[in-house]
Amino acid sequence: MKVFQPYSLGSITLKNHIVMAPMTRSRAIKNTPNDMMALYYEQRSDAGLIITEGTSPSPNGLGYARIPGAFTDTQIEGWKNIASKVHNKDSKIFVQLMHCGRASAAPNLPEGAKVIAPSSIQLSGEIYTDTAGLQPYVIPEAMSKDEIQNTQKEYIESATNLVAAGIDGVELHSANGYLLDQFLNPASNVRKDEYGGSYKNRTRFLLELTQKTIDAIGANRVGVRISPYGVFNDMQGEYDDLIEMYSYLAAELAKLNIAYIHIVDHRGMGAPDFPTDIVTTIKEIFKGTIITGGNINTEKEAQAILDKGSDLAYIGRPYISNPNLVTKLKNNITLTQPTMDTFYTPGEVGYTDYASI
Ligand SMILES: Cc1cc2nc3c(=O)[nH]c(=O)nc-3n(C[C@H](O)[C@H](O)[C@H](O)COP(=O)(O)O)c2cc1C
Repeated sequence: MKVFQPYSLGSITLKNHIVMAPMTRSRAIKNTPNDMMALYYEQRSDAGLIITEGTSPSPNGLGYARIPGAFTDTQIEGWKNIASKVHNKDSKIFVQLMHCGRASAAPNLPEGAKVIAPSSIQLSGEIYTDTAGLQPYVIPEAMSKDEIQNTQKEYIESATNLVAAGIDGVELHSANGYLLDQFLNPASNVRKDEYGGSYKNRTRFLLELTQKTIDAIGANRVGVRISPYGVFNDMQGEYDDLIEMYSYLAAELAKLNIAYIHIVDHRGMGAPDFPTDIVTTIKEIFKGTIITGGNINTEKEAQAILDKGSDLAYIGRPYISNPNLVTKLKNNITLTQPTMDTFYTPGEVGYTDYASI
C-alpha cells in the first residue's frame, strides 16, 4: 500500500504517508512544552510527519489555557527536547504556529499581552479559562500597521528559533478562525487599508508572512494550513470571492514553492459540506504537496484520500487514543476510541496513558 511507503517532502523523507494532525491538548503548564508532551509525541512517532498542536509565536496569541508558546528560551528548549525524541524514532516534526487573535480571553493571556485581530469584531459565545471558568470572548483591538509588522516579526523569530532547535519546519495556521484566517475571512476582516477588502488584500498578511518565514528558514520548511468553507470560530463559510481567493493563494504559494498546503476537512465532525471540489481546485493550481484527511479510521480510508489526489493523509482523533496508529492500521487492529472529556484537561490521563500494542 502506498500509504505505508516513504514520501519525499522537500528535503526530508517521511517514512510513510501518514501525518498526525495538529491537535491542541492543553498540557503545556505555563505555556511551556514539558517532558510529558515529549513522551506524548514520542509515543506517536510512527507517523511519517507529526504536526504539533497550535503553538503561539507571541504572548498576544495565547488565546486558550495551557497552550504552548515558542517565544521564550525555555519554550524553545522544550521544543528542542521534543524534536530529539521524535527524531530518535525516525519521524519528522513541524510545529504549528497558531496565533489565536480574537479567539481569546484575557485570563488566558500573560500580563501585558492583549487581544488583537484584523478588526474589532467580537466572537460570539464563551471560552474556557482556568482562573474564571467560561468567559465571553474579548472585543479585540484592531491591529495597527505597526502591530501587523511586529506580529510578523514574532512569527519569524519563533520559526527561526524552532528550526535552530532541531524542529523540521513550521506550519502557518491559517485555518479554523485563528488570526491568519481572521484576515482571510470577510466576517472578521472589515479593514479599509491594504490588509482588508479585496481578496488580494485579505491574503496580504499571510503571503507577506509566508515570504518572510521562507527568507528566515527556507521554503521547504514552511507549510500552510487553510480551511475553505469552514465555519468554526464564526467564520463565514461561503462568500462571493472564496474560490478566487483560494485559487489566488494556491497560485502565490506555488510561486513561493512552500513544502505543502494542508487543507482542513471537518465534514466528519459535523461541519457543512463543501459545495465545490475545492481540494482538486487547489491541487491543480498549487501542484505541490497537498495534505488532507479527516475521519480516517482504516488503512483503506487513508489510501482512498491518496487515491483522490492528496499526497499525504492527515489523521487527528484516532492518534489521541492509538499511540502506534500506523501499526494498528497496517494490521487491521480495531482502534481504541478517544475520551473527549480529557481532550483538554491537564495531566497524563487521556494523554500519555493510552495503551500501545
Ligand atoms: C482535540 C482536538 C484539538 C485540535 N486542535 C487543533 C489545532 O491546534 N490546530 C488545528 O489546525 N486543528 C486542530 N484540530 C483539528 C484536527 O487537526 C483535525 O483537522 C480534525 O480532528 C479532523 O481530523 P480527524 O477526523 O482525523 O479527527 C483539533 C482537533 C481535535 C479533536
